[in-house]
Amino acid sequence: MKQLNQSSQKIMLAIQITKASLLICFFFILWYLLYEQNKLFLTGEQANNTETLTEVHLSSPSTLSSNITYNTITNNDSIENPLNELKELNKRYCGNPTCKFLFVYNFGEQETKANLHFRSFSQLAEKLNRTMILTNVGSSQISVCQNFSFNLYYNVTLLKKEFPNVLYKSEDDFILWLKERDQIKNKLNNINNNEVIPPLSILHSNLRRYDITSETIYRNVKPVVSLSECLSKFGPFMNLTDPNNSRVKYTIMDITKFDLKTEQSRAKFSKLLIDDLSVNEEILLVNSYVLDPLFPVIMPVIPYNDYILNEAQKLKEKLSSSYIGIHWRLEQSRPELLPECAQGLIITLNKIMKEEGIENIYLATDYPLLSSSSQSDTFTKITNYHHDAIRMLNETFKINTWVSLGGLEQLRRNEKYDTEFIGPGIQGILDKLVCVNSNYFIAGPKGCSRILSTFTKAIADERSNRLDSGLLNVIDRWKIPL
Ligand SMILES: *[C@@H]1O[C@H](CO)[C@@H](O)[C@H](O)[C@H]1NC(C)=O
Ligand SMILES: *[C@@H]1O[C@H](CO)[C@@H](O)[C@H](O)[C@H]1NC(C)=O
Ligand SMILES: *[C@@H]1O[C@H](CO)[C@@H](O)[C@H](O)[C@H]1NC(C)=O
Ligand SMILES: *[C@@H]1O[C@H](CO)[C@@H](O)[C@H](O)[C@H]1NC(C)=O
Ligand SMILES: *[C@@H]1O[C@H](CO)[C@@H](O)[C@H](O)[C@H]1NC(C)=O
Ligand SMILES: *[C@@H]1O[C@H](CO)[C@@H](O)[C@H](O)[C@H]1NC(C)=O
Ligand SMILES: *[C@@H]1O[C@H](CO)[C@@H](O)[C@H](O)[C@H]1NC(C)=O
Ligand SMILES: *[C@@H]1O[C@H](CO)[C@@H](O)[C@H](O)[C@H]1NC(C)=O
Ligand SMILES: *[C@@H]1O[C@H](CO)[C@@H](O)[C@H](O)[C@H]1NC(C)=O
Repeated sequence: MKQLNQSSQKIMLAIQITKASLLICFFFILWYLLYEQNKLFLTGEQANNTETLTEVHLSSPSTLSSNITYNTITNNDSIENPLNELKELNKRYCGNPTCKFLFVYNFGEQETKANLHFRSFSQLAEKLNRTMILTNVGSSQISVCQNFSFNLYYNVTLLKKEFPNVLYKSEDDFILWLKERDQIKNKLNNINNNEVIPPLSILHSNLRRYDITSETIYRNVKPVVSLSECLSKFGPFMNLTDPNNSRVKYTIMDITKFDLKTEQSRAKFSKLLIDDLSVNEEILLVNSYVLDPLFPVIMPVIPYNDYILNEAQKLKEKLSSSYIGIHWRLEQSRPELLPECAQGLIITLNKIMKEEGIENIYLATDYPLLSSSSQSDTFTKITNYHHDAIRMLNETFKINTWVSLGGLEQLRRNEKYDTEFIGPGIQGILDKLVCVNSNYFIAGPKGCSRILSTFTKAIADERSNRLDSGLLNVIDRWKIPL
């Protein structure tokens, strides 16, 4: 379709050319000179490969090129085709004459799960040969609604090592590409009074596992009117409701949990996914809520950046490198059971301290430590049972937390990150790392804690990989006293 347009545009060009007057010869020479200049400028920028690209103000050739262009320089692609400028732009950003992006703008769920989903979609980006956008992070999510760049949480260098075949670009880079494409489009389309460069082509797809169908279904849908407000930050350069800006197709995939359950089912499902999403659109815009891995192979956790790793190391040193890590997620506990839960924890701690000779304890919890709001989005109803349980523990032992040990101080002092410390955020990653590093790790039993916590499981998985480095256990759950 796009190619058809391009060739019909060439024909139009030729028709216009035949009508061209002698005057045009003069303009052609002018244009040629300007063009050469621009090319030099672009090559200089190209070498830089950074984000100064908006600074390129291409001076517009003032009229259409003449038949001379067409006749004399046909065999030189970089002159013949006005689309060349777009190709150059794309080469700079995507290493290819066409840019194809995979922009999953919402990964759903909190960091531990979002981390998994980001890996799944990196695998998809590789299969689809698409440049993947590093969606913003914040509040323990990976989402376009967040305000911090991906590298606040993650080490992009190590991510690229994990996925060497995937090209990654930040949201900022993406905006620069949109902007430049828009400039080129306006310029060339105005000169030719013609649609030389088409609007952005976008496929917007909702991939979701709500289990509302008994088999996975992929279908076209009418334009989604209630798109995330946060996408408007790409306006006016990407505006899904402006037909002059973009042509958008909308689809939904309803995925069943059975398709994602086993390695075999995912092998089958992922083929279907790749087929369905092998499209020509420049931008594949995905809103994801998939809950499970999409591919048979599950890639290792995206490494966190040095800042967080160093903070975890600092806390470990403050605990004399000897501590019991406790993960107590009070959400989904039965509040009336909490006094007994606290009692059970105290008994267990006393036992481990005595048997293993460990004196320090570190508590990772969704109980509010800094403000009155909990460190989990979904945990909102905090009762006196919760307060009493934590108080009981606090009266028995010195409880160390990321707050009491002064973790993440540098960020906390910077008001830019204020929102990050209201509710869940980067401190969840720190808690996770401190628990991974603990000599002994315990988590709450059923009734006291959310038992199917992927956060707890992630800690246990990581610890089982490190058992040979002197950890005393992988994970134990304390008991409610009878
Ligand atoms: C350009 O096109 C005009 C009109 O068809 C023709 O008279 C002229 O010879 C062409 N010029 C060249 C250099 O081919
Ligand atoms: C590369 O970009 C930096 C700014 O990010 C600029 O200072 C430098 O001059 C550029 N180098 C070249 C070769 O364009
Ligand atoms: C023709 O294109 C090549 C690259 O494809 C370029 O090196 C060369 O300078 C171009 N020739 C002219 C006359 O612009
Ligand atoms: C992706 O690129 C590779 C190598 O360039 C090619 O072999 C493969 O067919 C491409 N896949 C798709 C889906 O375009
Ligand atoms: C992002 O920043 C904007 C403007 O500063 C603010 O209104 C919004 O609440 C922030 N979003 C988050 C998730 O913190
Ligand atoms: C998108 O385009 C529509 C229609 O032209 C316009 O009403 C809206 O303000 C635009 N939004 C942005 C963010 O540019
Ligand atoms: C799209 O562009 C056409 C022609 O330039 C203009 O008439 C029309 O109002 C534009 N539509 C919108 C929604 O901006
Ligand atoms: C990423 O990891 C590498 C290797 O461990 C390290 O050298 C680099 O400093 C890290 N970068 C960040 C931003 O954490
Ligand atoms: C434990 O008690 C101390 C001193 O009373 C207090 O500063 C601290 O915030 C308490 N810790 C928790 C987790 O409530």
